[in-house]
Amino acid sequence: MASHRRDHAVRAAVAHGLLTPDRPVVALLDTAGIRASATALTRAFAAVTDAPVLHAFAVKAAPLVPVLRLLHTAGLGAEVASPGELALARAAGVPPARTVLDSPAKTPAELREALALGIAVNADNLQELARLDALVASAPTTSPLGLRVNPQVGAGSIGALSTATATSKFGVALRDEGAREAVVQAFLDRPWLTRLHTHTGSQGVPLALMAEAVREVHALAEEINARAGRQRIDTLDIGGGLPVDFTSDEETPAYAAYARLLADTTPALFDGRYRLVTEFGRSLLAKHGTILARVEYTKTSGGRPIAVTHAGVQLATRTVYAPESWPLRVLAYDAGGRPRDGEPVVQDVAGPACFAGDLLATGRALPLLRPGDIVAVPDTGAYYFAHHYAYNSLPRPGIHGFTADDDGTVTFATVREPQTLTEIVAESGGAHADALVR
Ligand SMILES: Cc1ncc(COP(=O)(O)O)c(C=O)c1O
Repeated sequence: MASHRRDHAVRAAVAHGLLTPDRPVVALLDTAGIRASATALTRAFAAVTDAPVLHAFAVKAAPLVPVLRLLHTAGLGAEVASPGELALARAAGVPPARTVLDSPAKTPAELREALALGIAVNADNLQELARLDALVASAPTTSPLGLRVNPQVGAGSIGALSTATATSKFGVALRDEGAREAVVQAFLDRPWLTRLHTHTGSQGVPLALMAEAVREVHALAEEINARAGRQRIDTLDIGGGLPVDFTSDEETPAYAAYARLLADTTPALFDGRYRLVTEFGRSLLAKHGTILARVEYTKTSGGRPIAVTHAGVQLATRTVYAPESWPLRVLAYDAGGRPRDGEPVVQDVAGPACFAGDLLATGRALPLLRPGDIVAVPDTGAYYFAHHYAYNSLPRPGIHGFTADDDGTVTFATVREPQTLTEIVAESGGAHADALVR
């Protein structure tokens, strides 16, 4: 998010009463920024190929209906990986022809529904292909069908997000003994199988490794087509995974750089013989989301200043549990939403949850925070505040989209209402209070 837009938005969030002592945490989404990222993605691929490309937003990155609708109006589709994500995409109006279903554990009912709707499905493994055999035989479908493969090109810097390792749970492990031949044969046996899918991993995977995996999958498609004596594979789904810079407001690496790298590594990928699908998530949304939380108290402990805020593990789960892999910036504002000045002081920024590790940042140099100040946590538009963790029954905060005019006028639109205590009770078995004492 551009820093001037963020500054206007923080101030306006206070002025509009979105952040108050009684409502001490809120999340913002920069609508113009999201639109700009969608445009950058579309243009980056249009610059290197005339082939049709479906950019299917990975819903897991920001499972919010208004976000999916915005991206749909910007020309993107949706990649869904669960019945819930499919329901969100449908609620947003994303048509089946622009939806792709990938997940490692689809039930027969999910597969049946996807095939009935005509949604593209990527099978994860050969057992799933056997399920599809039965379904395809039992009812006609317009769903394009593919198979996910794992080229086993290796890991990035975050193991938990590296999906192309030797022992990854995703896809058919291509370098395992006999696997490549089994995949080729699976295609030769099934005239309806027309797509190959791969996703090398997310944050932490170098672009060169992503490009290498795509090259391998393209080579496999060429092999299958050659063995079949005609173009059996017509679409390559190359997944998502573009990393994000969490250390600054820079939006790097750029889609254009990745598209050029793909063009350099595998020129034939873009020669028009293959339709393409991409599944970017984090890189479309991360930079456009910001958490705002009030500082409730400040203290020192063992000489270390600590600001206790209302943003912690419930919103920044990965950062709290794996801070080395997921460091976030923290920016200081005063109670009126103006950037704080003052000599930087090394301090901890803590969340509200009742365990010692609930820290957004440790040993961070910031103007010494005071009660009533606001901390802004940028780059949290993907896989953060939309991925609430219900520890301590902390409520999901409200999410507001905003637009900022050149003169600083900010307009907000509700994306998600804050969760109420009544909803928390209902979601926690409130209707079954006597269930265990009957
Ligand atoms: C199959 C698949 N596609 C796309 C994505 C999106 O990745 P990213 O948000 O890093 O772009 C993921 C992330 O886990 C995924 O598993």
